[in-house]
Amino acid sequence: KFEGLAETPPLGWNSWNTFATDINEQLVKDIADKFVELGLKEAGYEYIVLDDGWMAKERDTHGNLIADPIKFPSGMKALADYIHSKGLKFGLYNCAGSKTCAGYPGSRGFEYQDARSYASWDVDYLKYDWCNTDKLNAEGAYITMRDALKAAGRPVVFSICEWGDNEPWKWAKDVGHAWRVTGDIINCWDCEVGHGSWSSWGVWKIINMRKDIRKVAGPGHWNDFDMMEVGNGMADAEDRTHFAMWTMLTSPLIMGNDLRVASKETIKTLANKEVIAVNQDKLGIQGFRFSNEGDFEIWIKPLENDAWAITFVNMSDKPLSLNFDWEKHDIGDDVNGKRMEAKQQKFKIRDLFNHKNLGDTSKNLMAEIQSHDVL
Ligand code: GLA
Repeated sequence: KFEGLAETPPLGWNSWNTFATDINEQLVKDIADKFVELGLKEAGYEYIVLDDGWMAKERDTHGNLIADPIKFPSGMKALADYIHSKGLKFGLYNCAGSKTCAGYPGSRGFEYQDARSYASWDVDYLKYDWCNTDKLNAEGAYITMRDALKAAGRPVVFSICEWGDNEPWKWAKDVGHAWRVTGDIINCWDCEVGHGSWSSWGVWKIINMRKDIRKVAGPGHWNDFDMMEVGNGMADAEDRTHFAMWTMLTSPLIMGNDLRVASKETIKTLANKEVIAVNQDKLGIQGFRFSNEGDFEIWIKPLENDAWAITFVNMSDKPLSLNFDWEKHDIGDDVNGKRMEAKQQKFKIRDLFNHKNLGDTSKNLMAEIQSHDVL
């Protein structure tokens, strides 16, 4: 794969969660404009990724992929140019199978040809899905596409969208820059929505689906907990918790909402640079659940310069009064050999969502946390 890319988790937007295949040129340009207008670019978001549905239903007579001529009359190169003119980067979607999940032409047997098309359009990011793959070997299929991208020569972030069944965390470190770890997310807190042979999963379900994979995440190779549902209908508190968790899990932060109509509160969450900084910390250590006492959970993530990100989560349906004695908690990450040692050393405390200093670890941390919210 291309080294030196996605050294911190990719930040961006993807069309699927809100628009599915109902996408078009004007929408994508509007989204690029919104990146700038709403301060999202400044907060670090970079990639604008078109998911399934951007292609014409058939390849051309030479077997080349073509953009849907009605949705994208100016073609992909013109769209890439527009996005690049805003200082942003451009991503596309395809699939390792014979067809994409929504039935458009897949890349199977066309990998090198498709990679050359992407390079000719100045594509910077490829999300590569896993539908209609019959008995294809997952590792082999993703290696083929990786090699095709390499051969085409333009540096591309390669985002593996295999849903965890073939355990990509065991083989994808040198293949892609991130890999999905679960089936598709949906905009609810703790639900499962069945679609016959597969299900979509609420945010809290996704968080809890995979154990023991944090060790494999790191600079250039991330566990991808799927595109975010922030701003897509959950309560603002749940959106904050969702965002905090994706941050702590060093997941790619890929927005999935309609930025043209996003509320102030949604943008306040998504564009919070202090929270994003936790996700983008240079060490790239994936955080984890340090403790849970019923509905009260503590998540921790070691950061650069001996700092720690700590997320207190109130999972109950009532407000929680936090009274946290730092010296009584031996906060540490054994996998990475790091301890906080609040007994030996005073740490300053900062509330990243509200941009407030909260004293230091010599005093108990007292706070009210609303239902499904985080501190
Ligand atoms: C799969 C992927 C989704 C999305 C759709 C598109 O379900 O997991 O993220 O890309 O396909 O059809």
